[in-house]
Amino acid sequence: MSIAMREAGAAAPASRDFVFSWLGEGDMATAIETVGVLGCGLMGSGIAQVCATAGYRTIVREVDAVLLEQGLARIGTFLDAGVAKGKVAVEGRDRTLANLSGTTSFDALGECDLVVEAITENLEAKRATYAGLEPVMKDHTILLSNTSSLCITELAAATRRPDRFGGLHFFNPVPVMKLVEVIRGLATSDATYQAAFAFAQSLGKEPITAPDRPGFIVNRLLVPYLLDAVRAYERGLGSLEDIDKGLTLGCGYPMGPFTLLDFVGLDTVYSIANIMWEELREPAFAPPPLLKRMVLAGHLGRKSGRGFYSYL
Ligand code: CAA
Repeated sequence: MSIAMREAGAAAPASRDFVFSWLGEGDMATAIETVGVLGCGLMGSGIAQVCATAGYRTIVREVDAVLLEQGLARIGTFLDAGVAKGKVAVEGRDRTLANLSGTTSFDALGECDLVVEAITENLEAKRATYAGLEPVMKDHTILLSNTSSLCITELAAATRRPDRFGGLHFFNPVPVMKLVEVIRGLATSDATYQAAFAFAQSLGKEPITAPDRPGFIVNRLLVPYLLDAVRAYERGLGSLEDIDKGLTLGCGYPMGPFTLLDFVGLDTVYSIANIMWEELREPAFAPPPLLKRMVLAGHLGRKSGRGFYSYL
């Protein structure tokens, strides 16, 4: 089943199971009814999907119609696969799709109570997006970034509402992975942090509180492990297959380090490593030469058809 791009603003059937409130400014209880998602790539489409599944009217924005259609189609494919596996009810899939709409404009996001930004990991691109969004945002609207590596305090400073800004970091594949990291920047208000935490719970996720430090909690520990695997492979520790098999069968990890690198994207890991290295200057975060060269060669993993393994 494919999703037709429904014009944002068209009435979505109300199917939310719950509404939660948090105390906003002036002790006004404010309900989150409409959620915006900026970016409909791998992460954005997953985030939009879980928001719509949780019953929120969800409006997802992409920069052009082709990317938007691709992202919405990804959601349709995932839901159809869930139905085929018996993990998703047909009515559940249809309700999720009915709650979703797409747009290429910022105007349609004006009605959102909470917006999750999941665009490319580039400070300037995020700044420009926030500048486009802010003029149409309602005063109480919370803006949360799904960044995996950029500084939340710095992103907040790029907005005119740093107290209503925070980090909400999802994991890939978003509809399957239970964890969400909630990050507060120096200026994030208590109300915003609490609303972000409760919002993650309302999506059926398990939130944890992470500090605004490079890599937050998970990538702070995961990325050095992945980089070390590349270094060890470069030094001849074993074949890709044997190292992956060692960690899956020996430790019960769902994926070995090279399968996971290809899954996450070598460019993503390289970018996170660079940011951690820049700020912390610890050798464990320095990107290994092989990783850099694979990124330069465009061997980015599954997304490019080739990484440590071939997917062609
Ligand atoms: N709809 C609904 N549920 C689905 C589904 C779908 N379309 N596809 C899969 N699932 C569910 C399955 O039903 C299954 O659920 P149960 O355990 O309840 O049965 C679960 O998802 C696993 O799916 P599969 O059994 O089909 O697939 P798998 O066992 O091969 O697992 C995987 C796939 C979940 C991706 C697993 O390999 C895994 O966990 N890999 C590691 C992923 C990981 O580490 N992600 C984090 C990356 S780091 C990151 O994202 C942060 C960053 O900043 C870089």
